[in-house]
Amino acid sequence: MDMRIEVKKALAGFFVTACVTGCAGREDMVPKLGEAPLKKVIAAMTLEEKAGLLVGDHEFDYYKDGSVKDEIPGIAGTTKAIPRLGIPVTYHTDGPAGVNISPRRDGTEQTYFCTAFPVATMLASSWNPELTRQIGAAIGDEAREYGCDIVLAPAINLHRNPLCGRNFEYYSEDPFLTGKTASAMISGIQSQGVGTSLKHFAANNQETFRRENNAIISQRALRELYLKGFEIAVREAHPWTIMSSYNLINGTYTSESRPLLTDILRDEWGFDGFVMTDWTRMIRNTAAQIHAGNELMMPGFQEQIDDIVASVRDGRLSESDLDLSVERMLKVIIRTPRFKRYEFSDKPDLASHAAITHAAANEGVILLRNEEGTLPLNGGSKVALFGMGSYDLFAGGVGSGEVNAEKVVNIDEGLTDEGISIDQDLKALYSSASGEIPISLEYASRKASDSDIALVTIRRTAGEYVDRRAIEGDFYLTQTEKDMLRNISEAFRSKGKKMVVVLNTGGVIETASWKGLADAIVLPWQPGVEGGHTIADILTGKVNPSGKLTMTWPVEYMDIPSSKNFPYDFEGNSWIKGPVRDAFDPGKRNIGFTMYEEGIWVGYRHFTTFGVPVSYPFGFGMSYTDFSYSSPSVKAGKNGSYTATVTVTNTGSRSGKEVVELYVAAPRGAMEKPLRELKGFAKTKELAPGESETLSISFTSYDLASFDEDSLEWVTDAGEYQALFASSVEDIRQSASFRVKRPQTKKVLVKL
Ligand code: GLC
Repeated sequence: MDMRIEVKKALAGFFVTACVTGCAGREDMVPKLGEAPLKKVIAAMTLEEKAGLLVGDHEFDYYKDGSVKDEIPGIAGTTKAIPRLGIPVTYHTDGPAGVNISPRRDGTEQTYFCTAFPVATMLASSWNPELTRQIGAAIGDEAREYGCDIVLAPAINLHRNPLCGRNFEYYSEDPFLTGKTASAMISGIQSQGVGTSLKHFAANNQETFRRENNAIISQRALRELYLKGFEIAVREAHPWTIMSSYNLINGTYTSESRPLLTDILRDEWGFDGFVMTDWTRMIRNTAAQIHAGNELMMPGFQEQIDDIVASVRDGRLSESDLDLSVERMLKVIIRTPRFKRYEFSDKPDLASHAAITHAAANEGVILLRNEEGTLPLNGGSKVALFGMGSYDLFAGGVGSGEVNAEKVVNIDEGLTDEGISIDQDLKALYSSASGEIPISLEYASRKASDSDIALVTIRRTAGEYVDRRAIEGDFYLTQTEKDMLRNISEAFRSKGKKMVVVLNTGGVIETASWKGLADAIVLPWQPGVEGGHTIADILTGKVNPSGKLTMTWPVEYMDIPSSKNFPYDFEGNSWIKGPVRDAFDPGKRNIGFTMYEEGIWVGYRHFTTFGVPVSYPFGFGMSYTDFSYSSPSVKAGKNGSYTATVTVTNTGSRSGKEVVELYVAAPRGAMEKPLRELKGFAKTKELAPGESETLSISFTSYDLASFDEDSLEWVTDAGEYQALFASSVEDIRQSASFRVKRPQTKKVLVKL
C-alpha cells in the first residue's frame, strides 16, 4: 500500500473531520430565529436572503407539467424559508368567509373541504360582535388545522356603492360598525394562534381597473369614513398584518405611501405588524414600497428580489430600511404555527364549524316585511317553492373570497328537514332548470290551488375582478323575475293566499317597485353551508329574526350619492363587457380615476340628513315580536368617557333579541355634520315576552370628533349633544341629552 496514499487518506480524513467539526461548530454558531437575538439573525443574513424574505415565494400552484408545487394546493401565498437561520415557510390563505384552498390533492383520497361561513355582510347584519368573534375562532381553527399561518381577512372596505363586486366580503356603509365587527373577527381568528391580514388598506371600493384606479378623496372623507374602520380595528385588535390595496389614493399607490403606511398606520395608530401588498401581477417600485412601510411583496417574483438587491447596491434603498422590514417580518413569523412546529391535523372539526355557522347565520337574517303576520309559517303549510335560489342557494360570493365546501344545505332541504311539505312538481321542474324559469299566471294559479303559500327566492352573486351592473338582471330585477313575482302574487292573493320573497344576495338590489307584491320579505344574504337550515329556522319561527341592515337600500340606483361616480353600466352590457372592456385610460372618469365627490355623504349620512326617501333604511330589521325602550340616560365619566344606558322590554308574544343603535346628533358647529351618526350599539339577550334588559353603551369624546381638513385636526365641539336610542337610523325610540363642556382637538401628522 503506497504510504503516500495512506498519508493522503489520513490528511483527507482529518481535513473532513476538521471541516465538519468546524462547520458543525460554525453551524452551531449560526444564530437561529427564536434562539438568538433578532439583530444577530438579521446580521447573519445575506443581502439576497433579506431581499428574498420580503418577496412571496408562490407564483402558481402547479408546475407546467401539472405536478403540484405547493404543500397546500390552492394556497394564496407563501413566504420564503431560510433553513440555516431557522426561518420556516409561512402559508397565507384567503378569506373573509372561510379557508380557501383546493379540496383535493394529487396522490391521496383525502379531501380538504372547508366551511363556507356566512359572508361578511351577513355577520355584520347580526350586530353581534361576540358571534363574529366565534366565527373568527372557527376560521382560525380551520386555517391552523390545514397548516396555514395567516388568514387574509377581514376585508373592510366601505360599502360606498352597492355595485362594488366585493361588497359581500365587506361589512357596512358605516365605518364604526365596520371597525367593531372587524375587531371581533381579528380577535377570533388570532385567538387560535394564526394571524390575520386586515385589507385592503385603503379605499379599494371598486373592482373596475382596481390595480390602476386613482381614488380621489377629501381628507375628511378619508379620515371619517375610509380609514376609520381600519383605525378602530388596528387600535382594538392588533392584526398581525395589513394588506395594502392595489389602488392609488390622491395620486400615490397605497403600497408606496409612507404617510399612509408609516405616519398614520404606525406612528398614529400604533400598528406593530407588517404590511403586504395585494396580489399584484406587475412589478412596482419595490424600493419605494419598502421605504413606505410595505414589507412583503405578494405573490412574489424573482424580479422583485433582484430589484431590492439592486436598490440597496445603488442607494435607492437604505440598508436600515431593509433591515427594519426584515425585523418586522421576523417578529410575525416567530408567532406562526409553522415556526412553532405545530402538528396540524388536516382534519378540522367541520361539523362543529357548521353548527357555529348555523347559529351565526340565524342572527344575520333580516326580516324586511311581514304584512299581517304572514310569517312564521303555519306548521302544516304546504309551500309552493319558486326560484332557482330555492334549490341552488348561493352560500357565498366568488373570487378569492369563495370557499370550497363539500355541501350547502338548500332551502328546499332546510324546509323539508323542518317538516314543511313542499310542492314536488316544482322541485322536479327546478331541478332540471339551468336558469330562472318564466312563471305564467296560469301555471301560478294551478300552484295556488295546490299549496297554502308561495315562497319565491331571488338570488344574486358577485365577486372579485368585476363590479355589478346597475341594469336589469343585477341591481334591478330581470323581466322574468318581475313577471314571476307579479303572476305568483296575483295568483295566490286571488285565492286569499300569500307570497313570501327570500333574497339570497350578497348585496343590495332594487326593492321599492315590487315589494308591495310580497306579503313578507326575508333577507338571508349568502348564509354559508347551513343556509337552508337557517332560512327554514326563520320561516318556521324556530328562530325569531334579529338582524338589521348595515347599509341603505335606496329606491333607485341613481338616488345614491356616489352613483354618478362609479363605473356602472346602464347600456345593458353583459357581465364581461361593460366598462371593463375599455382599454385602461388614466384620464377616464371612473376608470383611470374615481372622484369621491360625495365626500362624507355616504349611505344614511346622506339619505337621513337630506331627507331622501329610501326603500329600507340603515339599521332596519323587523322581529316576530315587539320591543319598547325606556329610561334613556347618558352619564359622563372620566377623561371624556360617556356611558349611555337604555332599558329594552319585549312587549310582544314571542321571545326575541333586539339591537339598539346609538346615534349621536352633534350641536351645530363650524363644520357641516350629518344629522346623526352611529356611535354605539348593543344587542339584548333572548328576551322572553315581558322581560326587560338594560343595555350600556360606552363612547368617548374622541368618537364624537369630526375631521377639520383645514387644520388637520379631529375636533369635538363643546355644547349639547343628543344621544338617540334607535331601532333603525329613522326609528328613534328614546333620546337623552348630554354636554361636552370644553372643545377638544387632536392634531394628526399628515394628509394623503
Ligand atoms: C386578491 C384579492 C385579495 C386576496 C389576494 C390573494 O387579488 O384582492 O383580497 O387576499 O388576491 O388571493
